[in-house]
Amino acid sequence: MKFTSAAIAALGLVSSVSAVAVKKRAATDPIVVKGSKFFHKNSGEQFFMNGVAYQTDLSLVDMSDLPTGQQFVDPLTDIESCKRDVPLLEALHTNLIRVYAIDTTKSQDACMKLLSDAGIYVIADLSEPGLSVNRDAPAWDHHLYERYTAVIDKLQKYDNVMGFFAGNEVTNNKSNTEASPFVKASVRDMKAYIKEKGYRQIPVGYATNDDEFVRDQLADYFNCGPAEDSVDFWGYNIYSWCGQSSLKISGWDKRTEEYADYNVPVFFAEYGCNDPSPRKFTEVQALYGDDMTPVFSGGIVYMYFEEANKYGLVSVDKSGKLTKLSDYNSLEKQLGDVTPKGVKMSSYTPQNTKARSCPAQTETWKASANLPPTPDQPTCECLRSQLTCVPAANLAEKKYADIFGYICGQLGEDGCNGIATDGANGVYGSYSMCDAEIRLGWALTQYYNSQNGAASACDFDRQARVVSPSTLNSTCEKMVDAAGGTAGKLLGEGSTATSSGKSSGESDKPNAGSCLTPPAGLSTFAVLIASFLGMGMMML
Ligand SMILES: *[C@@H]1O[C@H](CO)[C@@H](O)[C@H](O)[C@H]1NC(C)=O
Ligand SMILES: *[C@@H]1O[C@H](CO)[C@@H](O)[C@H](O)[C@H]1NC(C)=O
Repeated sequence: MKFTSAAIAALGLVSSVSAVAVKKRAATDPIVVKGSKFFHKNSGEQFFMNGVAYQTDLSLVDMSDLPTGQQFVDPLTDIESCKRDVPLLEALHTNLIRVYAIDTTKSQDACMKLLSDAGIYVIADLSEPGLSVNRDAPAWDHHLYERYTAVIDKLQKYDNVMGFFAGNEVTNNKSNTEASPFVKASVRDMKAYIKEKGYRQIPVGYATNDDEFVRDQLADYFNCGPAEDSVDFWGYNIYSWCGQSSLKISGWDKRTEEYADYNVPVFFAEYGCNDPSPRKFTEVQALYGDDMTPVFSGGIVYMYFEEANKYGLVSVDKSGKLTKLSDYNSLEKQLGDVTPKGVKMSSYTPQNTKARSCPAQTETWKASANLPPTPDQPTCECLRSQLTCVPAANLAEKKYADIFGYICGQLGEDGCNGIATDGANGVYGSYSMCDAEIRLGWALTQYYNSQNGAASACDFDRQARVVSPSTLNSTCEKMVDAAGGTAGKLLGEGSTATSSGKSSGESDKPNAGSCLTPPAGLSTFAVLIASFLGMGMMML
């Protein structure tokens, strides 16, 4: 049975009468960006999001039902849950859900239709838990590029897809700001991909956390430079309004001032402090009130399902039985009471026309404005065809780090520059954007050559094997030449002086290849190795 709002009310599931009067309008009018605001493309009305984060609770999932290694369930592929939840979301005045991990092997059609019919848009993260830019070992490679573009390919056909997050809280404090160039490169490349494919212009943005030491620089960084490289919107995950707070106590007055001149839309990509609990959601009146609506386009409450972290609006047991929590009722009442005042697209002339300046590099903010290259698989395939020593078939990726660490240690200073990932100096190896397997093959081949092709130099306890290179065709020859030959080259060298403001006397020498003497702490060397693995530093 398909529940309508009225049917739910009749069943006594909805406490407030206002829910029955929810204005029902299908989400078929796409959302577009103009200046610092979102609008419905056809009606020209401003769009404020009444969002809810909607992510399947893994503790209720039988993990043996999932493909090996998969650490998520895409809620948009679970039609039974959608049938159960969409009417409840609608009754909650929700007009948008945020989903965190799309399963590109399954169909989202049925849930997307239910959502659309209920007037609900979707904003989706492009990553998934196993495939995202690793803040401690960042890289932007073909593997991630394939994942992100596959999600775009899957969702672009739905009119009610409102936008994509190219990252969520990747740089989350001053210890990992060097990860941001890789995330911004993913923004740049996904915007270019949507354009190149001729898809509807679905905006691509980022969701940031609220770390006081880096939040300003993050907002500047993702907005600065050429518009093609920067975010189409800015999502802000913020939990500073707790209990009976106020604009002043929560700091939301300051946040509003800070974003008053931002030239793309800003919204809360997650909000809803849960201490004290249960939540009354008094912040809803502020967020959709006259002080904030000129700057913020609403927000997304974290989150629909109750999990161990106690942010739920409803709880569901193993059998699928749902219970509304008091947070649901409070939010339903608060959202029912707001009518944010918008402007018409036709009468809106954006005032914020200037992008922010890129943040200066300091002790706290280390990310270079210089971004890593776009993953280019044909070039990587050409390189692959020239390798003479490659990983053994089926060598597990977790074995890569040791071999890689040994080789780059042996090759010495600059020996691994061809695959360097140095977000602080803004220099990147021309093959740093290839898949881990090709990058390891690159390193193995470099080492094998350095040992003059001695058979023992391509063995590593049978973890590597000798292969014959094929003849380069002319297309490949050009590509490999452009990448600096099979040894590769550093891209972006020399640009650091301008982006970091270093004095000309200071050395710009990147330490990406300084393999012999890794400095203490989070050295670029360590980052390089860990990024190879796509894992954290723990592996070292
Ligand atoms: C920064 O974030 C990382 C990853 O979440 C965490 O491990 C680390 O302790 C944090 N460091 C600081 C200085 O807050
Ligand atoms: C050139 O060689 C590469 C690598 O072997 C291959 O992927 C590509 O298809 C070839 N291109 C042409 C035009 O033959």
